[in-house]
Amino acid sequence: MALRAVVSKRQSRQLPANVEQLFDTHHESSPDIERVRAEARERYDKPFLLIDTRIVREKVHRFVAAMPRVRPHYAVKANPDPRVLKVLIEEGAGFEIASIAELDLLLSLGVPAAGIFYSNPVKPRQYVTYAASRGVEWFAIDSVDELRKVVSIKADAKLYLRIDTPNVGSDWPLGTKFGAQTAEAREILALAARMKADLAGVAFHVGSQCRNPGNWRVAIEKSRSLFDQMQKLGLKPRLLNIGGGYPVRHAKPIPSIELIGEVVNSALEAFPADVEVMAEPGRYMVSDAGYFVCRIIGTATRSGKRWMYLDAGLFGGIIETTEGLKYRIRTDRSGPDIAWTVAGPTCDSIDVVMRDEAMPSDLQEGDFLYIRNAGAYTTAYASRFNGFPLPELRVV
Ligand SMILES: Cc1ncc(COP(=O)(O)O)c(C=O)c1O
Repeated sequence: MALRAVVSKRQSRQLPANVEQLFDTHHESSPDIERVRAEARERYDKPFLLIDTRIVREKVHRFVAAMPRVRPHYAVKANPDPRVLKVLIEEGAGFEIASIAELDLLLSLGVPAAGIFYSNPVKPRQYVTYAASRGVEWFAIDSVDELRKVVSIKADAKLYLRIDTPNVGSDWPLGTKFGAQTAEAREILALAARMKADLAGVAFHVGSQCRNPGNWRVAIEKSRSLFDQMQKLGLKPRLLNIGGGYPVRHAKPIPSIELIGEVVNSALEAFPADVEVMAEPGRYMVSDAGYFVCRIIGTATRSGKRWMYLDAGLFGGIIETTEGLKYRIRTDRSGPDIAWTVAGPTCDSIDVVMRDEAMPSDLQEGDFLYIRNAGAYTTAYASRFNGFPLPELRVV
């Protein structure tokens, strides 16, 4: 496909909806719904996530095939279940962590510390000390303050600079919280050179569930120019970390990983072969592999609108809907669709997870909801707020 004709520099800033349709080439992987239904029928004590590890393996293969030069380092936060991590280890993935609890989990599974990337740009001092003592070598920074902090603890740390890059067309922009802007990056590079710190790479995150491949191209070009600046200052850049953000199919169209790969591979040609290139996919690796199953605990009519209350809500793992993610949901009913307001079981008024969600009118107490592509950022978010149990994770 003449991708570059489609993702021109001009278009990469904003993709109109009709252009997005061209990208909707995503091949679907999903656990067998009949298997999911049978699991719920046979035993149900609380909400559960069913993960099919064959799909996790398939996603790793697909990622690597689409971007042969890029080694995926799974973002543990997306789903830190040890059974999922073991599959990723078997498939040869590396790892990216946000905290030392994630580090300990990986170490307990035999992952070598030197290959673990501590990509949280702002880390507690004691976490950096602990990670360094366990053998972690690579640390992200995105400010002069963090540069000073990490180097004061581990003078020979290998550092990578997280830069701010466009998050246009991403369902979860991350750019406002993290990432050095151009002037800040210049200051960080100059300080690193003066301190003789090993600022060895550049990283970025295009935003989670990124539906605009142009974000990667712009970010890789920006990174290339930073490599040049680093070299001029006597630093030795050798790592490019193209982050996470690879999207999965929900309600909106998405570009396939192959399409993103074409953009990335072509942009990477500007980097010499000895530059190590890695990525940090989270959602992409595990989302399609999971069905989240929960149950209606009650229904009500309020001001003429139908409400359903589930045994899992915002605090039980269904939280991404509050930021606009629209899941595809199946049920066992076939009545005509009406607009439902869907709430969680807690007494907190913010625990409403979907509004005007079209679902069968005959849904009632005791019915199951099967939420598709929910393997990422569901169980990982869940808490015991109000005394409700954490969802179970069933791995097949
Ligand atoms: C530093 C970092 N890397 C990778 C990821 C994974 O992103 P995604 O799940 O969108 O691939 C995240 C998500 O927040 C992140 O913060």
